[in-house]
Amino acid sequence: MKKILVTGATGQIGSELIPALRSAYGGANVVAAGYRRSPDAELFGGGPYCSLDVRNAALLCEIVQKYHIDTIFHLASLLSAVAERNPQLAWDINMHGLNNILETARLNGCAVFFPSSIGVFGSGTPRKNTPQVTIQRPDTLYGISKLTGELLCDYYHRRFGVETRGLRLPGLISYKTPPGGGTTDYAVEIFFAALTEGTYCCFLKPDTRLDMMYMPDAIHAIISLMEADGGKLNHRNAYNVTAMNFTPEELAAQIRLSIKEFSIRYEVDAVRQAIADSWPQFMDDSAARNEWGWSPCYDLAATASDMLENIAVKLGKKGDGYYGVE
Ligand code: SER
Repeated sequence: MKKILVTGATGQIGSELIPALRSAYGGANVVAAGYRRSPDAELFGGGPYCSLDVRNAALLCEIVQKYHIDTIFHLASLLSAVAERNPQLAWDINMHGLNNILETARLNGCAVFFPSSIGVFGSGTPRKNTPQVTIQRPDTLYGISKLTGELLCDYYHRRFGVETRGLRLPGLISYKTPPGGGTTDYAVEIFFAALTEGTYCCFLKPDTRLDMMYMPDAIHAIISLMEADGGKLNHRNAYNVTAMNFTPEELAAQIRLSIKEFSIRYEVDAVRQAIADSWPQFMDDSAARNEWGWSPCYDLAATASDMLENIAVKLGKKGDGYYGVE
């Protein structure tokens, strides 16, 4: 990777992946392309920034050629709950966007990273220790678009030799940029609510178990996969990866170890509950561990104390170890 383009730059992953890539490869070598949200000063000032709707193939190609891009991290996508509200738009952005990226990569010799998701599984898939290779009949438009994306990435690799690689990411927990429209968003919202209101109203049932990961592990996974020896990648599109799994009531109990008065109540959103009920409770990620050395650093306790610390600082409250658990 020498010249990199990141789409979806202003999103939850992009806003943290870009600074990491810029510090590894140099600010001028990482072009950030966003569309729906305005870039912050770090994204805008740390290297090239451009506005790009990934459905605009001509502009995409122009940017790739202008900056001599050799690797594209294609993050632009609608998440699961938003996609269920507007399936036609989700198909348009998620599928036509990816198709444009793969065609541009084929014509310009670029490698492509594609973030797949736990959403590629469905109610017919084993939900416990979900295998790397198993039944994939997703129930949501988001899952259908991500599964089609996995297949299309495999096709471009097999047929045209495009260096495509992907991860089936679980719910991502982070404090810098909100996720915006996913089923696992509760696991981010709850931390902000704990520090501002002392209470949180959760849209999933208390015992809904899902796979999760803290953002530093996700960034490490994405970069490690793209740097891995391609000869060892048997499941390139895409690898199950996870770091922890928990339910809303377990997360609330973890937060209460730091904020004793914190309370949670439940107003279940039927759409998001149905989505969560069709996803794995925990995946088997041994293929990622064996083929390219995946190993997460953050468990639930480490994630919770780091989230509370950093959000407290962001909100101008106590930080400096105050929310750590003894
Ligand atoms: N976090 C995503 C969502 O909830 C799953 O990939 O939509």
